[in-house]
Amino acid sequence: MEKRKFTRRQVIATASAGTLGVMADWHLKNYTIYGKDSGKLALLGGDPVRTSEWPEWPVWDPSAEAEILKMLRSGRWWRGSGEYVAEFEKQYAELIGAKRCLATASGTTALLVSLHVLGVDAGDEVLVSPFTFIATYNVIFMNKALPVFVDTDPETFLMNPDKIEEKITDRTTAILPVHIYGLPVDMDRVNSIARKHNLKVIEDACQAWLAEYRDKKTGTLGDLGCFSFQNSKHIPTGEGGAVVGNNDEIMDRAHAFHNCGRPYGSFTGTTPIPIRGSNRRMQQFQAIMLMSQMKRAKKDADIRLENALYLDSQLREIPGIIPYRLADGATRSAYHEYPFRYRKEYFNEVPRERFIEALEAEGIPCNEGYGPQNKYAIMDDALNSKGYKRLFSEERLRRYREENRLPGNDQLCEEAVCFYQSVLLGSKSDMDDIARAIRKIYEGRDQLKSEE
Ligand SMILES: Cc1ncc(COP(=O)(O)O)c(C=O)c1O
Repeated sequence: MEKRKFTRRQVIATASAGTLGVMADWHLKNYTIYGKDSGKLALLGGDPVRTSEWPEWPVWDPSAEAEILKMLRSGRWWRGSGEYVAEFEKQYAELIGAKRCLATASGTTALLVSLHVLGVDAGDEVLVSPFTFIATYNVIFMNKALPVFVDTDPETFLMNPDKIEEKITDRTTAILPVHIYGLPVDMDRVNSIARKHNLKVIEDACQAWLAEYRDKKTGTLGDLGCFSFQNSKHIPTGEGGAVVGNNDEIMDRAHAFHNCGRPYGSFTGTTPIPIRGSNRRMQQFQAIMLMSQMKRAKKDADIRLENALYLDSQLREIPGIIPYRLADGATRSAYHEYPFRYRKEYFNEVPRERFIEALEAEGIPCNEGYGPQNKYAIMDDALNSKGYKRLFSEERLRRYREENRLPGNDQLCEEAVCFYQSVLLGSKSDMDDIARAIRKIYEGRDQLKSEE
């Protein structure tokens, strides 16, 4: 690989006119690290920084094999015929530090159960983070309620607590903050606003296993917390989910609801089916795999954390690369993705998409996170539907469309770059490769500019 040493003067000369003033001081202190890593970008035919593989995901645990085979042969595959799902619920509640856990078929169904049992009904409004996987909006639509987006703080990637109260109306019944990428939302702020306005809080912790806020696990801080165990997740079982909570009555209701409305615990009635419900049950196979996957969860979380903190320290030094900021009170992220913002003005206006291509060409897998989904056709599909027109006045829907402007979220959707969690399961020298590749692109930004 071509390696060049820059003189101090050359380094300063390579900076573009627009960014020179901002970065000159920085270069004076750090020019030698750029000199070491610069060279022809792999995207343009140079040698990549890295050619070796990254850790694969998911990883199956041989300890599950015998149990799965035993259960397969028994024919006792649904939760009503065996003990695995209940045992998983016990173990997961313990891991997360919640009084109760209800296993569900998926994270989506965990959210659906939670919204229903906390009383989110047709015609209600739910305040929600827009920077999230689309399932978070969809469940609100499925409950025939209106997802009202609270703008994102681009620095934290999370719902901006300063923007919550202005979105509350007399129809608002719940707040649905998302600990996206495992970054904990400032839950003290969310909970105090919820208490003041008598709202329920459902945490979307579908990407936040073992993350912590004031040393308590995310998912245990609101009225209910929801998790996903889908194939890509840190505790994966193909499809799977859980609701956790500390209130027995609500959890009994959740159990009854997820089992077609059949009675459960304190939740009984004078007829065989006391409440409405649906089948949202987890299967026994899923529970066996989950218990085997849980064995590695804490160790993996520690590795991700250590690598992420190291990466923070490395990436912070590169102009135009801004790692996430932990929200106030957040004590530990789960890093389902490692996110940072790419400021193209520091890279001679090279578009983020081109930066991502360049980074991937250097052997570093990455992605651009979520798009501005609040502007996607899904919104019109719901708002123009017969049901929504019946449930909400024309005036409310007009105002909703008008207020569906999220400058913070738009900015983040243009700047975010993420590394998927399994990248963080590598070694410290793998993290060095990431930092080296980004520095190389920074140093070679003129190559990308001049190709236009
Ligand atoms: C933030 C978030 N919410 C909800 C979900 C839905 O979970 P599932 O895919 O298990 O239904 C996911 C899953 O990817 C998610 O990432």
